Amino acid sequence: MTTAAETPAIASVPTSPADVTSVLVVGGGQMGSGIAQVFAQAGRRVLLADVSTEQLERAKQGIAKSAAKLHEKGRLSDAQLADVTGNIDYVSDLAAADLTGVQLAIEAATEHLETKLAIFRDLDAKLPDGALLATNTSSISITVIAAATKRPKHVVGMHFMNPVPVLKLVEVISGLETLPAVTELVMELSVELGKTPVHSKDMPGFIANRILMPMVNEAFFVLGEGIGTAEGIDEVMKLGMAHPMGPLALADLIGLDTTLAILEVLHRDLGDPKYRPAPLLRQYVAAGRFGRKSGAGVYEY
Ligand SMILES: NC(=O)c1ccc[n+]([C@@H]2O[C@H](COP(=O)([O-])OP(=O)(O)OC[C@H]3O[C@@H](n4cnc5c(N)ncnc54)[C@H](O)[C@@H]3O)[C@@H](O)[C@H]2O)c1
Repeated sequence: MTTAAETPAIASVPTSPADVTSVLVVGGGQMGSGIAQVFAQAGRRVLLADVSTEQLERAKQGIAKSAAKLHEKGRLSDAQLADVTGNIDYVSDLAAADLTGVQLAIEAATEHLETKLAIFRDLDAKLPDGALLATNTSSISITVIAAATKRPKHVVGMHFMNPVPVLKLVEVISGLETLPAVTELVMELSVELGKTPVHSKDMPGFIANRILMPMVNEAFFVLGEGIGTAEGIDEVMKLGMAHPMGPLALADLIGLDTTLAILEVLHRDLGDPKYRPAPLLRQYVAAGRFGRKSGAGVYEY
């Protein structure tokens, strides 16, 4: 039996961005660490969780480096720089963490359905009833993820772009059951983070990856067929189409494992052969060439 004083507070559902003061980010890879950074810069308390302690250490170093660079360029104030270091705690075991004050959790773990469903079941059980649950998934159905919880009305997609501290876009995706007020709150919160939100319906790949991934995939077909070199393909798209990065360099930045996972979702869930992943992309992933994060992808790093 617990006394009233010992009973954890049940947070009510946040109704404005100002109500979101404490955020949990699950997954501390390149996206999770960037998401933790932008929330910390915006004065929120952040708990960054990852199953890998080595990854948490890398995240801590990466966040410090990224914030120092933005500060040097004058895009981060002294106070914001201090917030980035002071506002983030790191945890490898969620069971040991105090989650009673969390109003919003954002999942940014590996792009794998079963992994995400297990995380959402766990978050649903551990977080206060009023907490909102968001996913940074690139392609997986928000409706399916939400259905793994007892709070589907409070589950939403919050899809940041890579690198998170630099790129302005956040795609906000409502699942079938998501309350309009929750979508609206996440759009407003994105603006507070200095981002520009764009709403998307819950369809595979949403807007960004539905359009981007067929192009990236085609670049792997073109490379695999020997039509051009990797450098040549990237140069064509940079100089000819004014893209800031070529599609192969971009795939290396996204992660070739993540690129393949997104294409597999598009292919399976839309059922159209035009999304079939290029065999060369599959080969790179099978060889452990995941891109920048593993030191080698299409290019060496
Ligand atoms: N890479 C991109 O450009 C990009 C852009 C937008 C969205 N996304 C999406 O963001 C998510 C993360 O992508 P990323 O590029 O950061 O991947 P990543 O491989 O860099 O990081 C994933 C992290 O998740 C951790 N993880 C795995 N299972 C976990 C669990 N059960 N609990 C806690 N942590 C766990 C891993 O240890 C790893 O550190 C994916 O859903 C991806 O599709 C990626």
